[in-house]
Amino acid sequence: MKTLGLSLTLAAGALSAGLAVAPSALAQAPDQADRIIRGRYQAILGDCEACHTAPGAKPLSGGLPLETPFGQLIPPNITPDKASGIGSWTEADFRNALKNGIGHDGKRLYPAMPYPAYTRMSDEDISNLWAYLRTVDPVFNPVEANQLPFPFNIRMSMLGWNMLNFTPGEFRPDPSKSEAWNRGAYIVQGPGHCGTCHSPKTSLGADETSQALEGASLQGWFAPNITGNPYIGIGSWSEEEIVQYLKTGANARTIASGPMAEAIEASTSQMTDEDVKAIATYLKSTTGGPAEKPKPIPADDRRMQMGAAIYHDTCSACHGADGKGARQLFPALAGSAIVQQPSSETLMRLVLQGSQAVHTDGARTTPAMPSLGWKLSDQQVADVLTYIRNSWGNAAPSVGPSDIGAHR
Ligand code: HEC
Ligand code: HEC
Ligand code: HEC
Repeated sequence: MKTLGLSLTLAAGALSAGLAVAPSALAQAPDQADRIIRGRYQAILGDCEACHTAPGAKPLSGGLPLETPFGQLIPPNITPDKASGIGSWTEADFRNALKNGIGHDGKRLYPAMPYPAYTRMSDEDISNLWAYLRTVDPVFNPVEANQLPFPFNIRMSMLGWNMLNFTPGEFRPDPSKSEAWNRGAYIVQGPGHCGTCHSPKTSLGADETSQALEGASLQGWFAPNITGNPYIGIGSWSEEEIVQYLKTGANARTIASGPMAEAIEASTSQMTDEDVKAIATYLKSTTGGPAEKPKPIPADDRRMQMGAAIYHDTCSACHGADGKGARQLFPALAGSAIVQQPSSETLMRLVLQGSQAVHTDGARTTPAMPSLGWKLSDQQVADVLTYIRNSWGNAAPSVGPSDIGAHR
């Protein structure tokens, strides 16, 4: 975790371990200090550092270039530096950025900044977040966010984007649902911005709201369906399994990699137990994706036979001949939702490039998936993926060698 100075932990259950605030916060009046600590927690829920901090740089002083469907954008410096950050902003300016997507000098922000989700945040949460951001070390680091090619570099075109795709407005609780459900819905749709990765996008890059959380491609990974769908979502997971995954990055079914491993390390693993349980309650209640499993490709199909041979040579030592893996060390492939997503992007990525599993306080060993791209041809990778997607009760579309070639 990237901590900021002195660690200050409140006894109150609502705000627990891992919240660190700058020493200057301690010099404030008690109610102000409380706002800052609450604001720090909002920054964890919203994972602002994930984008606004480059590796090794001072917190929130500007991020790494972000690939978007339109080109590159660099998340700007949001420390309180007056010249290059948001030090001369007012709280109203800040609220306008989170709620309405309006940045410096009234410019329209691109939705790579997840304001279409942050707009659901309550005024109080935004106000506390602002109080916290004022206490971060100011850093002079001018960033020109806009690296986009013509015509997407024209900010005025965002006016049109916003009119078509974006409805500002606070989260409205559903009084017929429990408090936990409403809290979970608020985090998922608001500060937690889970849909930024997990919801399919329209051709303009907006969330496809009718298919919320049904899975989407991002930068060579596939953020899977996380609705309550029983076979490609998390419908068959217990609430405890969801909580364990979000807290530690691993459970008996899977181990998180890539962008989710990062989101778990910096954000969900540091949420309170109550909030993570609320997320689980909400996710399990959602629906989406195909209601019925497709028919598996039969075991005597040539691709399946080739795939089985490669699997037993190269994969079974870790993932088991029965695809059941080894608890917390090697994820199960049998019954895995990741393995059966409509898109095989994450699978190709893992086999071609390998991956280091997530590292959190709750999961200290970090097993690795070796990169096997050098060893296997496009045809072999395609066949072994077709095999794991259609064995042990799994069923999903086959993968072709041209998919692999395009990914290499
Ligand atoms: C997924 C990446 C991402 C996350 C997460 C993210 N941002 Fe941003 N943010 C961006 C990008 C990219 C821009 C620049 C957009 C543009 O210039 O059109 C931006 C712009 C901003 C701006 C406008 C700054 C200016 O100079 O105009 C503010 C303020 C801001 N972000 C605050 C936040 C806060 C607070 C959080 C956490 C609650 C957060 N961001 C989380 C990517 C992100
Ligand atoms: C930066 C993008 C990103 C964000 C933000 C994000 N996720 Fe993920 N998520 C992913 C990716 C990619 C995977 C697949 C990881 C893997 O293959 O191990 C994933 C996997 C998951 C899984 C495991 C699903 C399975 O079948 O194994 C769950 C549950 C999940 N995410 C929940 C959430 C929740 C809840 C949030 C919001 C609090 C969230 N994610 C935010 C990208 C993201
Ligand atoms: C040396 C042990 C090892 C070998 C050999 C290996 N894997 Fe893995 N695999 C892992 C580990 C560890 C992970 C978890 C990595 C992570 O989460 O970043 C993993 C993750 C995966 C996942 C993602 C599962 C999930 O729930 O997130 C898939 C799919 C996968 N491997 C398929 C394969 C295939 C196919 C082969 C053979 C071509 C293979 N693996 C060979 C260790 C191995």
